[in-house]
Amino acid sequence: MMPRHHSSGFSNGYPRNTNTFDISPHRFQPRASTPAARRRRNLLTRLGIIAVVIVLIWFFIRPGSGTFTSLFSLGLLGSSGDVLMDTVRYYDLSNVQGTARGWEREERILLCVPLRDAEPHLNMMFSHLRNFTYPHHLIDLAFLVSDSKDRTLEVLVEKLEALQASEDPKLPYGEISIIEKDFGQKVNQDVESRHGFAAQASRRKLMAQARNWLLSATLRPYHSWVYWRDVDVETAPFTILEDLMRHNKDVIVPNVWRPLPDWLGGEQPYDLNSWQESETALALADTLDEDAVIVEGYAEYATWRPHLAYLRDPYGDPDMEMEIDGVGGVSILAKARVFRSGVHFPAFSFEKHAETEGFGKVIPIFLILQTHADSGFRWLNEMEAERLAKEAEEKEKQEREKKVKEQFSDTNAQWEQDKTQIQNLAKEAQKEREAESQQGSSQDSKAAADKVGEKSNNNQFRVEA
Ligand SMILES: *[C@@H]1O[C@H](CO)[C@@H](O)[C@H](O)[C@H]1NC(C)=O
Repeated sequence: MMPRHHSSGFSNGYPRNTNTFDISPHRFQPRASTPAARRRRNLLTRLGIIAVVIVLIWFFIRPGSGTFTSLFSLGLLGSSGDVLMDTVRYYDLSNVQGTARGWEREERILLCVPLRDAEPHLNMMFSHLRNFTYPHHLIDLAFLVSDSKDRTLEVLVEKLEALQASEDPKLPYGEISIIEKDFGQKVNQDVESRHGFAAQASRRKLMAQARNWLLSATLRPYHSWVYWRDVDVETAPFTILEDLMRHNKDVIVPNVWRPLPDWLGGEQPYDLNSWQESETALALADTLDEDAVIVEGYAEYATWRPHLAYLRDPYGDPDMEMEIDGVGGVSILAKARVFRSGVHFPAFSFEKHAETEGFGKVIPIFLILQTHADSGFRWLNEMEAERLAKEAEEKEKQEREKKVKEQFSDTNAQWEQDKTQIQNLAKEAQKEREAESQQGSSQDSKAAADKVGEKSNNNQFRVEA
């Protein structure tokens, strides 16, 4: 404990005289200075006041001066102005609104890619990254690696280093951010439950959180656009960024095709997550819990929403735009000001939707149709990829079985053939023997019997093979 009163008495900055009271310790202090010194000090004070007055008069009379700042920009304070310039940055956000021909105005894009156990797709993604025609130095990359059990992060870093060290000056990108954060998979990770209906709501909410994290950590004041891209896109036009940008919309997505098994026509001409609202779905939403999240593509929620397959005219203008109410996260181009103004991916049920589908509920989203085959945008989603792999495996298995069967039936046929041959030979031998018995010679029949033995040896070898 500090004593409240010091015996040495400097508690309030003044030396305490033991003869005085604490209330006013300096009151009766004797003067320390002599009268001569006092006179000198008075003279100096007067000279000082005169000097200050002269300086002030000079400043206010001097032409072009008279501002307060010019007073401080001289002398000592001048250098502190430079320090301010180094640490304070000014951004004029009216310059980064996003325009239809952003590449001409050097508008910067933030390209966001959420990754989870994405190692098998990274090759394909980097192939896309090399092919983008939008100037790479104007694109900053932002990756979020979350809840991954494979080597996503290691492979990503390896590939990024290679890309940035590329000889071709057109290849390296601007600034690259990798954010690692686990959101905790609350659901079982096996394929069934991951894509199962029950897991969808919490999955969407976690995905939304992840997107918002990534964006808020990496969006800078100089970005004009934000492009969201799924890692498992299979084919896309190299000019996708310009194609989407040209429409000059706050949020725009391309029409996405998904490869399907041949027996389903090979392709599904629409993205299940892009839809327009229906009366049925709105009525359904009214019956659901506050927390519920409607997801497209599941029998449990029969929304009867008009999908794009029925809305688009295959011979129509590929650049035709239409307004939609929900999107998937496959490929979304948005102006950065959309996010700056507070719009985000709902990580909760918003009008009974979450994540990118909820995003569509917050802000109007446009879709361009891109019906030209060669400008198609194909998206291989995980579920489809797994289904396709499974099918390919099954097909291979069937073919193998078929082959084995064929070989087996081949062998059977051969057996039959050989058997008849043996029988023929035996018959021949019999005939010869009969002829022999007439002629009295057995030599030929012995040769024929040897021949039979040879043949059956051959057969034995074939079966073992
Ligand atoms: C990128 O371009 C190369 C060369 O044109 C092509 O072989 C490759 O398939 C393209 N990658 C993708 C993912 O489209």
